[in-house]
Amino acid sequence: MTEFSQFQQRYVPMIEQEMTTFIEKYTTNTYLKESMLYSIQSGGKRLRPLLLLAVVASFGKDLEKKDFQTAAALEMIHTYSLIHDDLPAMDDDDLRRGKPTNHKIYGEAHAILAGDGLLTAAIQLLALSQLAMDEKILLIQLLTKAAGTEGMVSGQAGDLQGETRSLTLEELIEVHERKTGALIEFALLAGGILAEQTDTIVALLGDFAKHLGLAFQIRDDLLDVTSSEEALGKQVGRDETLNKSTYPGLLGIEGATKAFNEQMMLASEQLSDIQQNNSDFQPKLLQGILEQLAL
Ligand code: IPE
Ligand code: IPE
Ligand code: MG
Ligand code: MG
Ligand code: MG
Repeated sequence: MTEFSQFQQRYVPMIEQEMTTFIEKYTTNTYLKESMLYSIQSGGKRLRPLLLLAVVASFGKDLEKKDFQTAAALEMIHTYSLIHDDLPAMDDDDLRRGKPTNHKIYGEAHAILAGDGLLTAAIQLLALSQLAMDEKILLIQLLTKAAGTEGMVSGQAGDLQGETRSLTLEELIEVHERKTGALIEFALLAGGILAEQTDTIVALLGDFAKHLGLAFQIRDDLLDVTSSEEALGKQVGRDETLNKSTYPGLLGIEGATKAFNEQMMLASEQLSDIQQNNSDFQPKLLQGILEQLAL
């Protein structure tokens, strides 16, 4: 078993526990709570919180409660984005993480509210967390920037607008960087900040994240064309049906695969730069994540 697989096995249950405990404690409406927990407990790769924790561990730091709280807040925002992304008014999907989408079980209105609840609870969790005051403000600032109108929400708007007009590659890169890259970037920046790294190192982690984030959405676009419902736990071929602007749509499967490999290579090279700037940094865990995502 690789170092990253061991890391994953050990910490995914702790991330899940952190999210579940918070939602159970602070959600007063039983049906709303059930719908929030339905999506939170339906699995998923937990890539973003694992990246955050992996960064902290890569600098030789022990993982603390505040690290899990930040990781949980990030995954709650990601899960909310998926619930809303699947709504009939957006991508209109029936399957997510191998199960019926939230609105298929709880209805559209409650799926919207489950998303609203997860978004708000994520910020509440950070506000109540064990983070030191200055770190808390900084991380809330960065997370809201990544999730909101400079980040994921703007990217999702651009993605929808890309259904009615074919985006240029430059425009598509910007959409991908915002809708998917921004939350992945937060994972890396937050990991660096929680591991008390210098601004230089945090910036290098951000550069790594930019490449990984773009690669990750190119990969998602590719798998929508080349993979299967069983393998992904979500319907495939949806992007073409919805007339989305995508990497394979613009560059073909071969061109998109090449672009994916390039971004993964650039991300991997960034790990050596980080190591050159801080000899405490052990790239193995992040390298393990890149290996798992290889196509
Ligand atoms: C899906 O994200 C949506 C994208 C941003 C590509 P993931 O592929 O990380 O989904 P889960 O969390 O594993 O279900
Ligand atoms: C989703 O992108 C990005 C989000 C912010 C949720 P997609 O719409 O391509 O994600 P999937 O394919 O439905 O998981
Ligand atoms: Mg979408
Ligand atoms: Mg979608
Ligand atoms: Mg997709």
